[in-house]
Amino acid sequence: MMLKPSVLACLAAAGLAAADGLHARAVAAGKKYFGTEISISVMNDASANNIAKNSQDFGQYTAENEMKFDALEPSRGVFNYANGDKIVAQAQANGQIMRCHALIWHSQVPSWVSNGGFNNATLISIMRTHIANVVGHYKGKCYAWDVVNEALNEDGSYRNSGSIWGSTIGPAFIPMAFAAAAAADPSTKLYYNDYNCDKPGSKSTGAQNLIRMVKAYGAPIHGMGLQGHFTTGQVGSASTLVQNLQAFANLGVEVAYTELDIATPSSNPNFNQQATDYATVVSACKQVSACVGITTWGFTDKHTWIRNSYPLIWDTNMQKKAAYNAILNAWGSSSGGGGGGGGGGGVTTTARPPTPTGGSCAAQWGQCGGSGWSGPTCCVAPFSCKAQNPYYSQCL
Ligand SMILES: *[C@@H]1O[C@H](CO)[C@@H](O)[C@H](O)[C@H]1NC(C)=O
Repeated sequence: MMLKPSVLACLAAAGLAAADGLHARAVAAGKKYFGTEISISVMNDASANNIAKNSQDFGQYTAENEMKFDALEPSRGVFNYANGDKIVAQAQANGQIMRCHALIWHSQVPSWVSNGGFNNATLISIMRTHIANVVGHYKGKCYAWDVVNEALNEDGSYRNSGSIWGSTIGPAFIPMAFAAAAAADPSTKLYYNDYNCDKPGSKSTGAQNLIRMVKAYGAPIHGMGLQGHFTTGQVGSASTLVQNLQAFANLGVEVAYTELDIATPSSNPNFNQQATDYATVVSACKQVSACVGITTWGFTDKHTWIRNSYPLIWDTNMQKKAAYNAILNAWGSSSGGGGGGGGGGGVTTTARPPTPTGGSCAAQWGQCGGSGWSGPTCCVAPFSCKAQNPYYSQCL
């Protein structure tokens, strides 16, 4: 039977037309969202912004730069929310949720902070004031906040050099930032966010130790943001990604891919391999119930931070690439008949507390002490236990 055009138009206006898209499929697979990073410059590009406003494809936004420290507090005590508010307003108009990004990061810090010569106590106060203002301003509007961004070196140790926060306060800034964010908005999910933690390895282990450290301090932490900046052909297997997601889930936090893009050179792109790689990441998230969603770092190759690369899902002319259908298929049916309800029907995640193996010593990068720590206090040879702060000692 044919529906009259007027009935179809009415259904569409009511949002009842057949729902399909990257986000619709993610929801049908039991996830909260598929989303994208967006910026004021993308919003000013009408053909790109039309894609961003389609809530069947994107159920969530992350601001590229508009909520970073230098954008929001360009001089001490002066807060500028105009651009961040524009992004939140567009999200709300389309029924899209916000992941808010990012409170404390060593980069994009204004010079009044990095060159201010502040001592430890003053810098802690500056950090807490910033978090209280920003999280307070967006209270109730952020599904999640990236509280601390990129606080680890590649070997999993804490980043001190090159970070005003790490070098002045030490790793104690991390639990302090989480506690301050929780005080300003008790209902937003508080995330640690980093890159190169996407597969098992020393940095991923370091991020797991960071989560344990925040908990040992007594501050809340609810999520691990895996940035997911990959290279085409190097994503590897879904089972490796699942193993990594599960390691975080086992700490009792949720997990999300927060900045996914899969680089391929614009001079010689391989869009079929890229599509396979996008499907691998989606499949991994689908299999782990603690993985709540995926955010890509933009959606069109016209607007990407990676030079000489075509890493995204739409091409520079706003046409869908092979990756688009690969992502739809990896999520599965849009009807929700197959995988919905049970969190995707994959690996069942049992949240359990970190259980240090009784009596044995911790491995390299493992935790070996700190206030409230009941796990191993020795390290396997040749590593030794070094106190990082009162709440965390690490085998280095
Ligand atoms: C800065 O002060 C905090 C809070 O008193 C403390 O935990 C941290 O270790 C101090 N950092 C340094 C480098 O002394």
